[in-house]
Amino acid sequence: MEYVSSVWLGVLVFISIHGYGNIGPCEASSRVIQTPDQIYRTGYHFQPAKYWMNDPNGPMIYMGIYHFFYQYNPYDAQAGNIVWGHSTSTDLVNWTPQPPALLRSEPYDFKGCFSGSTTLLSGGKPAILYTGVDFSDNQVQNLAVPKYLADPYLTEWVKSPYNPLIAPNSVNKIDGQNFRDPTTAWLNPDGNWRMVVGNQQNGNGIGLLYRSKNFIDWIQAENPLHFMNNSGMWECPDFFPVSTISQNGLETSTMGPNVKHVFKASKASTDFYTVGTYNPNKDIFIPDNKSLDIGLGFRYDYGKFYASKSFFDSATSRKILFGWVNESVNNLEINSIRGWAGLQGIPRRIWLHKFGNQLLQWPIVEIEKLRMNPVIEDTSVLMPGSVREISGVNATQADIEMSFSAKTLEKAEKWEANWTNPQQVCSIKSASVKGGVGPFGLLVLASKDMQEYTAIFFRIFRGDNNNFIVLMCSDQTRSSLHLPSSDYDKTTYGALLNVDPLQEKLSLRTLIDHSIVESFGGEGKACITARVYPTNLAMDGATHLYVFNNGSQSVDISKLTAWSMKTAQIN
Ligand code: FRU
Repeated sequence: MEYVSSVWLGVLVFISIHGYGNIGPCEASSRVIQTPDQIYRTGYHFQPAKYWMNDPNGPMIYMGIYHFFYQYNPYDAQAGNIVWGHSTSTDLVNWTPQPPALLRSEPYDFKGCFSGSTTLLSGGKPAILYTGVDFSDNQVQNLAVPKYLADPYLTEWVKSPYNPLIAPNSVNKIDGQNFRDPTTAWLNPDGNWRMVVGNQQNGNGIGLLYRSKNFIDWIQAENPLHFMNNSGMWECPDFFPVSTISQNGLETSTMGPNVKHVFKASKASTDFYTVGTYNPNKDIFIPDNKSLDIGLGFRYDYGKFYASKSFFDSATSRKILFGWVNESVNNLEINSIRGWAGLQGIPRRIWLHKFGNQLLQWPIVEIEKLRMNPVIEDTSVLMPGSVREISGVNATQADIEMSFSAKTLEKAEKWEANWTNPQQVCSIKSASVKGGVGPFGLLVLASKDMQEYTAIFFRIFRGDNNNFIVLMCSDQTRSSLHLPSSDYDKTTYGALLNVDPLQEKLSLRTLIDHSIVESFGGEGKACITARVYPTNLAMDGATHLYVFNNGSQSVDISKLTAWSMKTAQIN
């Protein structure tokens, strides 16, 4: 009962600050709910006990312990005063808080310890490269190492006396406002380390390349590792090898046959990646397909997921990806009232698709140990216009796996030539707009009367060449129903899914956790993460889960399993 009172305290505080304004037509409930604080905290997604978190930093495994660092404000639930928060885990699911690894203490990081990475040096010794913001607001690159290598929890870190290692100056002419987020370093066959720092020059996104023999003296390479004209500042670059013949991850310095490289840059609230070839002699990276370069091609996620960072888990030979999932609020005051802001997505295993053009992503297998009380449905038919509740699940904290197939796609609507942006198509054709084959999928975090829901669904269209086009959408127009759209971002997200619905089943995995909905379509070919704040959770203490088909063609569910998820220990 304790949380109920804190919920209503949050409501009252919010109302006293904001009044009752901005209640739209479908928000005219007599029981107006504003911003409860704790009910939207997660049960199994990583977050600090309080205050602001943004980017994941330097995940790694050391002496059998997983380390996770993150951009953290230790004073407030707003961005600012950034230090490196630190937590450790033995399973990537349950997390123990540690003291912050890096605090703002020196002239070269007094205004912030910004994002960076860890590298395991020879003998497996960890090192942090991070960006400091100095007194003059210049971004500089720094090094920190553990105080006690024998401590598997690495609770104390020492900043290098050589800091800053790299600073903008009149010779390198680097713009000190746009020079940050060093990658994990890799060892080149010439025996020197390489690493990349995000940069922008005249609006062009750049991954500046550096070399070092001793990890202290860094020399800027003549050419950047990668760049793209007019693509804006590249934050949090990530660069790593992937195997073309196995789903296993590769250690960061791996090169040679059967290896491709992935370059990722974060820009405009989106993480873009491209697959290509790294030439270690010429020190350049060339995307396989120019039309899939940064900003043009694949995204890790088509919803909210930013500043991600990957690491190689040597214990299980996996490449694992963390990403920051920000709050969907326009009014930042709401974060302060709640006293916390920012989540991390469930760590994802990533590997190269067998066609070599894109990555596949899947929640790490460890998360499945939180699953309990499965509700299993074997084949069933979703008739046109039908909605059915999946009961017996804690719909607020759940994991759902299902796949769909349609016996015929005759009723597929035509994909219009001027539809170039899948997100826009999802916005025009929301879940409530009837279609041919689809929309079909899930209504999650829904109210009993189905006035409020977040819809994750597919629509199948007919392309020009008698091919089929699969659209995946996460529709937030009916989410956070009684919360005013002026204060909350209810953007609908969408992506195209590289699946041939004639040959393959269409699969959907959705992780639901109070205020986050993470969806993996086509066995991890496209992911969409959304933040929503179900007001029926505040009013009724529960949410509901439905499957629906709003198309004119019936669709088969070949299998559906829904698990309630146990609560993990999160800091
Ligand atoms: C990305 C970012 C990074 C920066 C950090 C500061 O979200 O802007 O470029 O290092 O956040 O917290």
